[in-house]
Amino acid sequence: MQSTHNTHHAPIRWGVLSVANIAVKRVIPAILASKSEKLVAVASRNIARAREVFAHLPELRLYGEYESLLLDPEIDAVYIPLPNSLHAEWTIRALEAGKHVLCEKPLAATAEQGMTVVEAAQASGKLLMEAFMYRFHPQTVWALEQAQAGRIGNIKLVRSSFSFNILLPPRPHDIRLQAALAGGSLMDVGCYPINFCRAVYDHAPSTVAARVSAPGVSEIIGDQGTITIPVPFVPGDADTEVVLSIEGQIIHQRITHVDQYRLEVEHFGTCIRTGAQPALSLTETIDNLRTIEAIYQSAGHPWPLV
Ligand SMILES: NC(=O)c1ccc[n+]([C@@H]2O[C@H](COP(=O)([O-])OP(=O)(O)OC[C@H]3O[C@@H](n4cnc5c(N)ncnc54)[C@H](OP(=O)(O)O)[C@@H]3O)[C@@H](O)[C@H]2O)c1
Repeated sequence: MQSTHNTHHAPIRWGVLSVANIAVKRVIPAILASKSEKLVAVASRNIARAREVFAHLPELRLYGEYESLLLDPEIDAVYIPLPNSLHAEWTIRALEAGKHVLCEKPLAATAEQGMTVVEAAQASGKLLMEAFMYRFHPQTVWALEQAQAGRIGNIKLVRSSFSFNILLPPRPHDIRLQAALAGGSLMDVGCYPINFCRAVYDHAPSTVAARVSAPGVSEIIGDQGTITIPVPFVPGDADTEVVLSIEGQIIHQRITHVDQYRLEVEHFGTCIRTGAQPALSLTETIDNLRTIEAIYQSAGHPWPLV
């Protein structure tokens, strides 16, 4: 029988597929910290490890198979932080099981696969959003508002990068280093600057060319000024700032520390409760996947791999 729980005021009941690092360190604490969201269950291929990790949450339901969690009628929304190669399959399964889905980036391994996921979401009538958490940070929201309001004139150039050294300390089994799991730096972190550029211009690029560079700062350059976000994607626990330079004037917009993962899950929860569309659209998601593929092709790299 379908649950009748989903009223405008009741917390959204979340299930999480896997004991992924990002779930344990960021998204599950964000759900637990939120009054409007509730963590109900976690599924893991390794239930003994799940029991150990969540020993401090005795009320939490633990499943030894992802499918069993999807069959739980007391779950409204599922968060999917699996390896990239499994995002499409498990998002479709969760949608077909009647769950709303917040899936980690990138939504799928290829744009074609992404389209099948979007079609599954449309057929299910459930909400789907790709988990680009940085879009919910007020520094991102503020910078995009300034650019869209024309504060720096016509946008001429956007520079953005995100990098870290995955080889220090060595972790050869990391999912990011496994091509078969749709790993790789473009899929793991390159997708953020692509998403940022698309958000600034509000459309996908017409052509792409790629080169590797570091470190990570985002800059939007207009014909009358610039907007700089010094720590654009993972500002962490510190206060941060956006720097707006226009006509010789420099404005340092201070942004107080927030938990962007909490803002992300609460936004998705609000959309489920109210029926509003998520701020991060599926059009953006598919554009991102298409751009990733175009960059691989531009670099002469075969993609998709399978
Ligand atoms: N938004 C962000 O800030 C952010 C940050 C980091 C990562 N991510 C994204 O989140 C996802 C997970 O990243 P992560 O670093 O948290 O990964 P991770 O720690 O390696 O966790 C992935 C989990 O997937 C499950 N899994 C199922 N099949 C697997 C397989 N064949 N190989 C390996 N693991 C398998 C495992 O959980 P069980 O054994 O419990 O089933 C594993 O713990 C990726 O899509 C990544 O792009 C997002």
